[in-house]
Amino acid sequence: MRSIELQGAGGPSHIALGLPVSSVPDLCQGRRITVITDNDVCALHGNRFPECNTIKIGTGEKEKTLETVHRIYETFLSLDLDRSSFIVGIGGGVVCDIAGFAASTYLRGLPFGFAPTTLLAQVDAGVGGKNGVNFQGYKNLIGTFNQPQFVVCDFRFLKTLPMAEVRNGLAEVIKHALIGDRDLLSQLETEREHILSLQEDIIEKIVYASLEVKVDIVSRDEKEGGERRKLNFGHTFGHAIEKTMGLSHGESVSIGMVMEARLSMAKGLLTAYDVQRIKNMLDGYGLPISAPLDRESVIDAVGKDKKREDEDIHFVLLDGIGAARIEKLKLQELVEAFDDLCEHR
Ligand SMILES: NC(=O)c1ccc[n+]([C@@H]2O[C@H](COP(=O)([O-])OP(=O)(O)OC[C@H]3O[C@@H](n4cnc5c(N)ncnc54)[C@H](O)[C@@H]3O)[C@@H](O)[C@H]2O)c1
Ligand SMILES: [Zn+2]
Repeated sequence: MRSIELQGAGGPSHIALGLPVSSVPDLCQGRRITVITDNDVCALHGNRFPECNTIKIGTGEKEKTLETVHRIYETFLSLDLDRSSFIVGIGGGVVCDIAGFAASTYLRGLPFGFAPTTLLAQVDAGVGGKNGVNFQGYKNLIGTFNQPQFVVCDFRFLKTLPMAEVRNGLAEVIKHALIGDRDLLSQLETEREHILSLQEDIIEKIVYASLEVKVDIVSRDEKEGGERRKLNFGHTFGHAIEKTMGLSHGESVSIGMVMEARLSMAKGLLTAYDVQRIKNMLDGYGLPISAPLDRESVIDAVGKDKKREDEDIHFVLLDGIGAARIEKLKLQELVEAFDDLCEHR
């Protein structure tokens, strides 16, 4: 068991790795617990949840709406929740984002914690205090910054996770290694088989290292004024690819990371050897390194990305392996570089 403390503006967030979900009631300090989960997670793992009221939502990104939050508020009201209540999100990133948002806004804020059940939620979505929902086609347009009081990573959940979801999480682990931890990158290279077979002690090691990178960045810039943008490495192109190509988030970010690594190389920050190493790593984990992209629609989507400010985009470049820097780039510069950034056929 390992733990990490994240000091948020509103209080600390205690992250416990390798703790069973059955420890949740102890962490809620005797308060009345309401669990929010999704139908599939409940069907697979509900027998291990704490005994308490459970609110189930549908499965998937389409549920991340204000309508779902509305239904949750109605249930909170019918359950007569008050400030002594405690909300626990048990599920993937969708559940964590919604549960954190509903808890943060009901009665001006109920205490909440998470037991993330996907690798992506354990290494990314469950930690860092961003909670929210999508609105009119825009991702995470409505939300709060508010840290969960605890995050319990129970690795037994991962045993039922489809491999495609494991890969989504691994793409973020690789991102964390590339922007902040060279040793993690080496571990990902040497321990691939153990990681892909979800061997618990190795998973705990890589989730821990991955979270250390995220927590270090978030604790210096909780509200994304600068440094936190580093967590968007691979995501400027990644989001655009996800929107236009219908690939999964992890697959899109994987291709995005290769393109953004190439741009880092064009700017003299990364060697061709480094770029090849990144490609080998992603490929080794079954993540794509290229796709036949539609130039116009990808560039259009990059332009619409909400990180864009006037004509500039806050772009994350790798500064060697294990370090990142943020540069303001003009959209035009990306347009001109685009063909060179795509995989040469
Ligand atoms: N708040 C943040 O900082 C942050 C960061 C990254 C991503 N996110 C958000 O996270 C979401 C993606 O999270 P996700 O990838 O976990 O998706 P998800 O929550 O949709 O889960 C993916 C699928 O796996 C299923 N599932 C969950 N746990 C399972 C288990 N143990 N076994 C079998 N199936 C299981 C779910 O029912 C779902 O069908 C996106 O909405 C994204 O915006 C938020
Ligand atoms: Zn991501």
